[in-house]
Amino acid sequence: MRKIFITILVFFISCEKKEVGYNEKFRPQFHFSPKLGWMNDPNGMFYINGDYHLFYQYYPDDNVWGPMHWGHAVSKDLIHWKNEPIAIYPDGNNYIFSGSAIVDQENKSGLGNGVNPPILAYYTNHDMLLERFWNGSKDSLFIDVETQHLAYSQDLGKTWVKYNNNPVIKNPGYRDYRDPKVTWLKEQEKWIISLAARDRIMFYSSKNLIEWEYLSDFKNIGERNGVWECPDLFPLIDENGNKKWILFVSINKNSPNGGSGTQYFIGDFDGESFKIDDNFLGDNNSIWIDYGSDNYAGVTWNNTPNNFKSRKFIGWMSNWRYGQVVPTFKWRSAMTIPRNISLYLDEEKRYRIKFNPISLEKIVSKSNSSHNKKNKIKISGNQNRFFISDISSNEFDIKFSNNEEDLSIKFSSNTFEIDRSNFNYKSINPDPKRTYKKEIFENSFIKNQTAKYNSEVKSIEIILDKSSIELFINDGELVMTDVFFYNNEFQLMELSGLNDFKIEEQTLNSIW
Ligand code: FRU
Repeated sequence: MRKIFITILVFFISCEKKEVGYNEKFRPQFHFSPKLGWMNDPNGMFYINGDYHLFYQYYPDDNVWGPMHWGHAVSKDLIHWKNEPIAIYPDGNNYIFSGSAIVDQENKSGLGNGVNPPILAYYTNHDMLLERFWNGSKDSLFIDVETQHLAYSQDLGKTWVKYNNNPVIKNPGYRDYRDPKVTWLKEQEKWIISLAARDRIMFYSSKNLIEWEYLSDFKNIGERNGVWECPDLFPLIDENGNKKWILFVSINKNSPNGGSGTQYFIGDFDGESFKIDDNFLGDNNSIWIDYGSDNYAGVTWNNTPNNFKSRKFIGWMSNWRYGQVVPTFKWRSAMTIPRNISLYLDEEKRYRIKFNPISLEKIVSKSNSSHNKKNKIKISGNQNRFFISDISSNEFDIKFSNNEEDLSIKFSSNTFEIDRSNFNYKSINPDPKRTYKKEIFENSFIKNQTAKYNSEVKSIEIILDKSSIELFINDGELVMTDVFFYNNEFQLMELSGLNDFKIEEQTLNSIW
């Protein structure tokens, strides 16, 4: 009897896994993606008592953008994720847009219960009704389309209550006024909020986390042909103990390879305003955290140990240009692999940051290292990590293919190029429910992704997970992240022009 019961139980559990499982075609196997429904930006990330909390823009009822919630997942190692109940729900017309969270260790806000430090989440309340009535004017009655709200948790992030005196920051007259990111300013013992307001970042400060005072604007610089979103401001210390402030600014279009992308600036923050280093931009209009197409709205974890040396980052592995038409149905989009950010001085003595993926050692199922001349490697399953080192060539080509399709990474004339156009996109239906999107989907992946890289290439790390590829060049000095969609998984990796080199190949386990 017991045996029958267990068999029936196992049957139902496996049916459930199939129905909402993590094994659909294109579903990354070791990247975070929502079980069901639509996801965009990562939100409110903080660390406490061994847990990394990740929240995200979430619409559980469809596979396209809709009334925004904050979804929630927790991880002990940034690799394995446990889905938690939805953290914050929209209220009628009030959608819960992006934002950040902090641990109020000393209960400065007074929102604690005396047992745990309260966790405070600041987010943009986006009022869809006001959006409809807003007439384009700064002084309109309806300008409060976007205001900054607070929600708090007294049980270390599990459940959340909306603060009853919202908004904590009113709208000074911008239709786009969103994505508050909170940072602790140790020297002055105050909190800073960075907010994106159309073409500028606005800074606010507070000592009690409830009353916020306007400080300054950062503007007239970088790529501004689009709407600025999702800022992040944080300090980092380099190997020599020098401290700099980093400011991330996402922009919804006109990134180097098209669509949405994230630029960054390095300089100093004196508690009032952010000033970028004179030599930071050089001849460039802007510097980007990723030169692929699929890393957007990424920000860093608050409250992690040793975060002056290295900060943990995660981004939305998609692009607003086509994110809503990619051919996954029950769920849409994944996050990038979490990355450690560190500060360094480049050959021209300009501060730059590098991004390195967190170690995936825990999920390696097979590993193989070989010294040079292995130019053809059989692969299967699209779940791999490759680390190529001792490269001594300035022109090479790495190709992943199946019988009919391929993706290639080329380096020549100091330029990296990812070509993801050689898939039979026409034969892949982007969404049976929405056939009119077919054309957008088919045309989205035609253009190659390019990135100038003037230094000598020594190593390349490649992370391949079903429909995503992430490249980390020279210890993360240049990063490219892209999604692609195939009929069949890869069978072969071919390397040409690399001369002598070493390659470590690993097959990775699914985390689901
Ligand atoms: C960025 C963004 C944010 C906004 C959120 C809405 O992708 O547009 O500016 O808060 O998405 O979902």
